[in-house]
Amino acid sequence: MRGIEQIPWLYDALMFVIDVCGLSRWRRELTAGVGERTLEVGCGTGRNLPHYLTHTRLVALDRNFQILGDARRRFPHLPLVVARVEALPFRAGIFDSVVSSLVFCSVENPGQGLAEIRRVLRPHGELRMIEHVRHPHPRGAAIQDLIQPIWTKVTGGCHPNRDTERAVERAGFSIEESGRMSWGVLRYFSARLRG
Ligand SMILES: C[S@@+](CC[C@H](N)C(=O)[O-])C[C@H]1O[C@@H](n2cnc3c(N)ncnc32)[C@H](O)[C@@H]1O
Repeated sequence: MRGIEQIPWLYDALMFVIDVCGLSRWRRELTAGVGERTLEVGCGTGRNLPHYLTHTRLVALDRNFQILGDARRRFPHLPLVVARVEALPFRAGIFDSVVSSLVFCSVENPGQGLAEIRRVLRPHGELRMIEHVRHPHPRGAAIQDLIQPIWTKVTGGCHPNRDTERAVERAGFSIEESGRMSWGVLRYFSARLRG
């Protein structure tokens, strides 16, 4: 069964509402001042793409051919690639920045995806994320655990209870700047490789 993430028009309509309610401000922050060579993973229908400055040499990818078709219709001039973040088709160390928004809740193997991001980033490169994350309070997290099976089915793969911040740190990044919205579960942050 397809979930919301696999139905481009439905996903886009829902995102339009969430963007109007405040997410588009974070999308602008997410993309402002990224490095010259930037990779966006899980770009979906391309809701971040209008926000990048024209001098950015951007490559965007998504695992879903159909959803990427929507982005391709809107941005025919951009290099858009069908690929999974767990197996990035790029040489090591070639990107200054990697961007993702609302992706790592759906990635099948987040550890492998983050290891791949680490591989393609240059030393001291930057990872920027907007992700909804595990609730900071045990009661909130317990509710997320409870609703996860049905949530994952309806959305088509999203896990609301993932501790993405810890996964990013385990992958060797230090989280530098951050903000929260939506009762603490939506998180914006920038991270750099340690060492
Ligand atoms: C909730 S949508 C977010 C789309 C877009 N980033 C945005 O902010 O609107 C999640 C996207 O991540 C993509 N995705 C999930 N797992 C992926 C993976 N392992 N590799 C690449 N893309 C993935 C899905 O196909 C989907 O388009």
